[in-house]
Amino acid sequence: MIDLASPETADLRQRLADALRDNNPANPLTEKHLAAVLADTAGNPGRMIRPQLVWLGAVRNGLTPDEADQLASAIEYYHAASLLLDDLPCMDNATVRRGRACAHRTHGEASAILAALSLINRANALAQLAFATQPGAVRIRALAGLDCCLGPAGLTGGQARDLRFAESTRSAREVSAIALGKTGALLWLSICLPTLPAEPNPVEWRMLKALSVYWGLAYQAVDDLRDVMCGTAQTGKTANRDGTLHRPNLAHALGQPAAQRRFARLLRQAQGALARLQRENGKWDYLAAFHHTVFAGLAPEANRAASHLAA
Ligand code: IPE
Ligand code: IPE
Ligand code: MG
Ligand code: MG
Ligand code: MG
Repeated sequence: MIDLASPETADLRQRLADALRDNNPANPLTEKHLAAVLADTAGNPGRMIRPQLVWLGAVRNGLTPDEADQLASAIEYYHAASLLLDDLPCMDNATVRRGRACAHRTHGEASAILAALSLINRANALAQLAFATQPGAVRIRALAGLDCCLGPAGLTGGQARDLRFAESTRSAREVSAIALGKTGALLWLSICLPTLPAEPNPVEWRMLKALSVYWGLAYQAVDDLRDVMCGTAQTGKTANRDGTLHRPNLAHALGQPAAQRRFARLLRQAQGALARLQRENGKWDYLAAFHHTVFAGLAPEANRAASHLAA
């Protein structure tokens, strides 16, 4: 199994940080406020969960390392754009992101919006370039996946429901449906999209899609717990947004012990999908490694959050 705690992984993180900087759409003639948001975003990339997954999946499934850089940058840019927009006063009205003042607070709301659009625009080009040498059928499936995941059936739809959660039934089911849209869709793009060149068999495809759901819901569950229990200094982003703004949050909807049990069950379900994948083909070991180093590592965080809530 590949070791994600190894020096090679540090190399991968550095490689991705370089790619994010190099693919940044700003150029020397770009207006200075827009350029500043783009430079700040590319220069402070966060945990890079999604581009790491994309890169590992892309090279394992038939893209070249350069194409993997392009696809990883594209998915991270969609994510970064979603955060720029998510923090705006008309959305989560946040002040801190990735340990720094939010872009709209430093450079103005218009520059943050234009930077988000610039990143999405560049991401569209990079995603097409990454698949440019693939057969037409693969390129069409990639485009369809991007269209579905980024639009009303995915990310923008999830964000729209997130903002209107207070007007909904506020059920745990609605919380999960929103998480699948706003977070699960980008996990689908991080897990499934890079595998398209290898044409996974039907069992593999079903398991890859299931894994996107389990990881997407688990990742958002930890984020929800952290929003409730952690301070801004710990998470690097404005605390208690969900409670203040009546946003969907699994810990609020279920109560903490049940939210904690849900998280643990999602991790077990993910492990089941990973085991099935590896029975099909050993090449899926990079996903199992990711589970152990990244997703299982979120468990203590969720436990701490839960015990704090129980107190
Ligand atoms: C934040 O994502 C938004 C969620 C979907 C929870 P991350 O926690 O991956 O943010 P960065 O990229 O590391 O800042
Ligand atoms: C946002 O979910 C997910 C997207 C930006 C698409 P949150 O609003 O919970 O993310 P954070 O907590 O601000 O990172
Ligand atoms: Mg939000
Ligand atoms: Mg937010
Ligand atoms: Mg959150």
